[in-house]
Amino acid sequence: MNEDSSVKISNKEEARSPVCIGREDDIKKLRRTTATVHNREVVVFYHDGSFYAMDHRCYHAGGPLHLGEIEDFNGQPCIICPWHKYKITLSTGEGLYQTINPRDPTVAPKWKSKGIKQRTHKVNVDSGNVYVTLSDLADNIDSDYYAEKFKKAINSPMKK
Ligand code: FES
Repeated sequence: MNEDSSVKISNKEEARSPVCIGREDDIKKLRRTTATVHNREVVVFYHDGSFYAMDHRCYHAGGPLHLGEIEDFNGQPCIICPWHKYKITLSTGEGLYQTINPRDPTVAPKWKSKGIKQRTHKVNVDSGNVYVTLSDLADNIDSDYYAEKFKKAINSPMKK
């Protein structure tokens, strides 16, 4: 193992360590909050007695998910992106869409999954504090593009 690979491993391990994002009581009252976890913007929701964390920026075009409404679709709680109303399941990050049959309007529309589009993260509560652990970033998920784009925007020096 050379020095470079050991640095990469330790950075990767550090990126998977939990980060405290606030007090449990405060986040339950707010019902949602945003935080930066190892340089990545996340949004945390408290909905129906459970915490959920995902990338803050919508996979479609970067909409700010903390401003969306939560509704149940197909029996799953979803965040509705405020920009173009895409529906994303809170627990898995799947994009949902409704199919219709234009030739037969009497057929009831059905909900389908586009697959996992929004990266979700793990939430733990310990001693009244809420911790977020980033998911394994090895595989590409659509929301990674905007997570990186907004990371660069936040970290770029202000131009005078
Ligand atoms: Fe979220 Fe378009 S940016 S639906």
